[in-house]
Amino acid sequence: MHYTLIDGLSTAKTIREELSIETHTIHSSTGHAPGLALLLVGNNPASEIYVTNKAKACQEIGINSVILRLPAETTQDQILLQIHQWNEDPTIHGILVQLPLPSHVDSTVILEQISPAKDVDGFHPSNVGNLVLGLPGFVPCTPLGIVELMKRYQIDPSGKHVVVLGRSNIVGKPMANLLYHKRAYSNAIVTICHTGANDIRDYTRQADILIAAVGVSKLVTADYVKEGVAIFDVGINRIDAPEKKSGYALCGDVDFDSVLSKCSAITPVPKGVGPMTIAMLLSNTVRSARKFLTPSI
Ligand code: GUN
Repeated sequence: MHYTLIDGLSTAKTIREELSIETHTIHSSTGHAPGLALLLVGNNPASEIYVTNKAKACQEIGINSVILRLPAETTQDQILLQIHQWNEDPTIHGILVQLPLPSHVDSTVILEQISPAKDVDGFHPSNVGNLVLGLPGFVPCTPLGIVELMKRYQIDPSGKHVVVLGRSNIVGKPMANLLYHKRAYSNAIVTICHTGANDIRDYTRQADILIAAVGVSKLVTADYVKEGVAIFDVGINRIDAPEKKSGYALCGDVDFDSVLSKCSAITPVPKGVGPMTIAMLLSNTVRSARKFLTPSI
């Protein structure tokens, strides 16, 4: 089957260029640049890379970003104090607390204290509720990026059976909730599939569109999917690759080579969904800044 390779890297680059124009318009018309605060607690190496990449992407398009790195022993109250300061800071329009947090910190308590108007990750219960109700609010960046790829590649989920593999708060749940509303690039019949299923293939084989977000390397092989499926692979898993200098390679939740002959469209790993997550963080931040700085528009 002929398939479309969904190029998240170049799509994200286009979006960043579009956003760069907007940040400079905001800056020149208000005298203020959008501002994003990033909090990293502890020294999880993957989180360190993610946060650094987010700050770099901000800088490239004219968003002021500040990274606050706190030691792993930081108390919950100290983190809350910082969140409250950013909530009141007029130069900060977006607040992102990189997850996971150390185990002595209750992430639910922290996320609840971020002002919903600055919650560019879309994790605050008020934004989650708005998403479920189909009301305006911030939507988590990875699912938002997948819908943006659907729009730009004209993969319309309306009337299709979308199977979401994984039920995380960051991807699976918001992804499913974005796709069943009666509006454009939604209106799908959505199944959330998880480890409670006896055999997930009973569900994934029914998918017109499959979204894999379980964090298991190459779980989805040809016998999991039907002919013509469109696949969005959220997984970013490390596998041993002794031939590489780093000693590891990245792979998705989908066995790319195995499913290829059955797909109508597929995102690669890397350069698929990943770059879109950062692009949507920038988009949410610019949107927030526009609201704060140009409230009449
Ligand atoms: N950890 C993994 N993904 C994310 C994300 O999208 N946002 C935050 N804040 N932490 C994460």
